[in-house]
Amino acid sequence: MKNQDLLNITEAYGSPVYVYNAETIESQYKRLTSAFKKVKQVRINYAVKALSNLAILQLMKRMGAGLDTVSIQEVKLGLAAGVDPKKIIYTPNGVSMEEIEEVAALGVQINIDNLSVLEQFGTKHPKIPVCIRINPHVMAGGNTNISVGHIDSKFGISIHQIPHILRIVELTRMNINGVHMHTGSDILDIDVFLYASEILFDTAKNFKDLEFIDFGSGFKVPYKEGDIETNIEEFGDKLSTRFKEFCKEYGKDLTLAFEPGKFLVSEAGKFLAKVNVVKQTTSTVFAQIDSGFNHLIRPMLYGSQHEIMNISNPNGRQRFYSVVGYICETDTFANNRRINEIKENDILAFSNAGAYCFSMASNYNSRFRPPEVLWYQGKAHLIRERETFDDLLKHQVPMEFEPVTA
Ligand SMILES: Cc1ncc(COP(=O)(O)O)c(C=O)c1O
Repeated sequence: MKNQDLLNITEAYGSPVYVYNAETIESQYKRLTSAFKKVKQVRINYAVKALSNLAILQLMKRMGAGLDTVSIQEVKLGLAAGVDPKKIIYTPNGVSMEEIEEVAALGVQINIDNLSVLEQFGTKHPKIPVCIRINPHVMAGGNTNISVGHIDSKFGISIHQIPHILRIVELTRMNINGVHMHTGSDILDIDVFLYASEILFDTAKNFKDLEFIDFGSGFKVPYKEGDIETNIEEFGDKLSTRFKEFCKEYGKDLTLAFEPGKFLVSEAGKFLAKVNVVKQTTSTVFAQIDSGFNHLIRPMLYGSQHEIMNISNPNGRQRFYSVVGYICETDTFANNRRINEIKENDILAFSNAGAYCFSMASNYNSRFRPPEVLWYQGKAHLIRERETFDDLLKHQVPMEFEPVTA
């Protein structure tokens, strides 16, 4: 996508708008599968939470990916996109037993991450195969909110509770067909990943009927030039070798599974917003856009740094700006960023806007959520319309108050 294509998209669909490049998604998918080409059976289950537009899920299906889901609604979106329920894994945390049973009835692979549910589910449905999410007690991830495999985390069943898992499995005669971990997002060091994988292999040895081992995700993608990223080729090579060794010991070719979100869609996305106001204060120059953390919350939530380009003036001289939104609270996207000179009405393009951007958007300040566009085979396709005032009113039930009497 060239700058002019992006500007044309804002002309056609207005601002702000999300744009995703299908080619980037496809090439990331190929990169990942070829990193593990030494392994006979590899399954990439795209983490729907990252970006759940139906067209994106259809694209995933087209490439051969399965889906990783965390709610029944994500499961149903996957099914609506035509994904085979057998290629969907459901990894909830703290949801009701009813929801888990409803998902199981749809034929989706269940992944359980606590002993209470394991015991209840195994007792009621011993014939339905279940995967177990362990907590390997490894500290990994780019931010405390996205580090989920450590000892204080609410996710997974502790590796120290394996004897209890085994007791439940034996007593209920349930079938454990997979083991899983997900230690966090933005993992900087592949050795941490490989270390956690050894813990997962150790866990796997306890179960005789496994079909797959799911290593979760957490691959780090670059946010700016020169940024650290997971060396997926090196990691693929190392883990594949180890996985094949393990399968030999185990006596069966298992499927190696991953569930990447960011790796597949982060870099494919651009968020385009218009500068409403350039405001010079005593201490800085604010470029204030027609959006806020209601549309892109990651900088405020995780301190994440999205590159910002002025695509209306890509060759202008660079100046320092604080890029902020229009929300009634502090909503800073970037402080003291060097950006090509900004004038009011210029369009700014935020990079890495594919993952956890639209999917975390809200109607805060009663603003509409932006449209989404898929750039596919050199053309822009609208894949979600901008919300309207009717959407804000939908589902609201006004009161029929009695008139105020004097
Ligand atoms: C269970 C699980 N799997 C996969 C992912 C995707 O992680 P990432 O987007 O870092 O690839 C997450 C992210 O929160 C997750 O919680």
